[in-house]
Amino acid sequence: MKKVLIVGNVFKDVYLRLDNRSNHFETDQNDIKWLDLSFNGSKHNYYSRVSIYGGVSISLEVLSRFGINASISGTPATFLDGQFIAKDVQTTYRYILCQDNNTSILKASEPAYSIWEAPAEAPDWIYLDSSAVISPKVAEEIINYLNLSQDTKLAYFIDNHTNQNAPHIQNLINHSALIITNTKSFADSKDCVRISKNHIEYLGRNVGWSLDNKSDLMTKFSSHLTIAASVFGALILGKEPGEALLLARENAESSKLSNTSNLSTLEKAIADDYYRVEKKSNRSTSNMEIENTAKKLMTLGKGILAADESGGSIHKKFESMNIPDDEQHRRNYRNIFFTTPELEKYVSGVILFDETARQSADDGNNFINYLKNRGVISGIKVDQGLVNFDDSDEKYTQGLDGLSNRLKEYYDMGARFAKWRAAFELTDHSPSQMAIQKNCEILAQYAKDCQEENIVPIVEPELVYDGDYTIEQNIEYTGKILDCLFNELAKQKINLAGCILKVNMVLAGKRQEKQSTPAEVGHATAQVLRQHVPHELAGVVFLSGGQSVTQATENLQAVTNNGPFPWPVTFSYARALQDPALKAWKGNDANADEARNAFKERLIANARALKKNAD
Ligand code: 13P
Repeated sequence: MKKVLIVGNVFKDVYLRLDNRSNHFETDQNDIKWLDLSFNGSKHNYYSRVSIYGGVSISLEVLSRFGINASISGTPATFLDGQFIAKDVQTTYRYILCQDNNTSILKASEPAYSIWEAPAEAPDWIYLDSSAVISPKVAEEIINYLNLSQDTKLAYFIDNHTNQNAPHIQNLINHSALIITNTKSFADSKDCVRISKNHIEYLGRNVGWSLDNKSDLMTKFSSHLTIAASVFGALILGKEPGEALLLARENAESSKLSNTSNLSTLEKAIADDYYRVEKKSNRSTSNMEIENTAKKLMTLGKGILAADESGGSIHKKFESMNIPDDEQHRRNYRNIFFTTPELEKYVSGVILFDETARQSADDGNNFINYLKNRGVISGIKVDQGLVNFDDSDEKYTQGLDGLSNRLKEYYDMGARFAKWRAAFELTDHSPSQMAIQKNCEILAQYAKDCQEENIVPIVEPELVYDGDYTIEQNIEYTGKILDCLFNELAKQKINLAGCILKVNMVLAGKRQEKQSTPAEVGHATAQVLRQHVPHELAGVVFLSGGQSVTQATENLQAVTNNGPFPWPVTFSYARALQDPALKAWKGNDANADEARNAFKERLIANARALKKNAD
């Protein structure tokens, strides 16, 4: 096994995704956005915060995942079982401010000089990465070591911060067997790996690379570290230069924050030409569209109204209130919600049922266009309800037949997202693994069909509230269902940045004696989501599932209080937003304004519950 000793500095990178609406950005003449961070009493908000180890830990991770025995000089940090472990390691903090597709960096301090500690056993290579800050003394010690250990070679990643004119740096360059650089000012005649904004070159080979359309915002520094360590690792394992560059490109483009790929995964991705072509064509068009739609749907402070009850569900609702269940009444009922003043202030999207998507607002526009004019995105429920499995009392969701054609039509009508609900009852014998598996496979197939038609899928696995289960059972089963779902979505290569999860809150069943308090629900829901939902997902929205109107709001507040999360989180209620309005309307349009007020009251309360600790 190849052995590499890396010299560099461990960073702690804290990624803060800034909230565009509540920060004041200024655009300069070069179209660069600036954020005024002056200490004038103003505050700055962010959607999510992710902290990762950066700097030399990236080099360590990449080389370890390539099957190389790598360690960092003078630090106890290791990469073990897929994890970077950095106990008692001195780190340098960097705050990475992310806004749209840009990052900028706020450094608390400059990194200290890197440590050199002669290894007990001679490595094949010493690798100085671009996080290293080399003092003259360390340079001298490394060169002394190289002179003693004739089989050890030196690779050196030189970037803009490396002072190439300093004599000790010149000396290291002269002793290097391989140079990697991302700075044009490195003018040495040596053959070296050159990384530029969109290319990687080595020995006359050249591949393009780009981080455009990537949901994870990697800094230039981190992506270059990934590329450099990948090329270096591949070359010392004996890969051809061209292949080393392809592996590096694949690793940079497919890596997530603090999660690069194994060599075998990268090799498979490169070998699979079809996969590459597919990924490329998606990348250029549809990925961008669905990611933008998903981002808009998850706008901070807004929720998604579910107004998509099927014919059967609306019939039950109307019947319970003696309201005639005919097309006109159904239209008038939906019209109340869509025409509520300031709807667009609280709602980013509305989920419609097929019939509603074909009906018109009072101004003659169809509802989809009417909502669009108000800045609200229309979505459509595309599943066709639950049916029993042949040999059990459990259910699966139907509607895959002809789905692609229906999605095409809905897209043409103006719908930009869709919803599919799978429902699981938690009893002493369900949900079975079979029912979970089958429903998640169907959800993933639906999500794939949606993304192929540029429609954002909302995947909704609902553990139904009606039951006598405990909150602990809910934690277990919601976790199981989410694991299975994200596994199936990965198999279908779903772009998670263009996909939204709609899920139940985690609480005890409605018929359980010991009901969960909001504090318990907030804590359990946050825990389950953090453990089972990948960071790349565009967002998480909650259904109300039969909770009372106030319970749904209080529990949403409790979840918010456990944030921030890696993804935006909001509400997507049907009953908990609409029920008071239905009661006020009573099927009589003379009560429409009263119904609108009742609806707006719920919107305001739930929007308030999206703000932390808003009592
Ligand atoms: P509830 O909020 O009434 O549970 O409805 C949400 C939904 O869309 C269920 O599919």
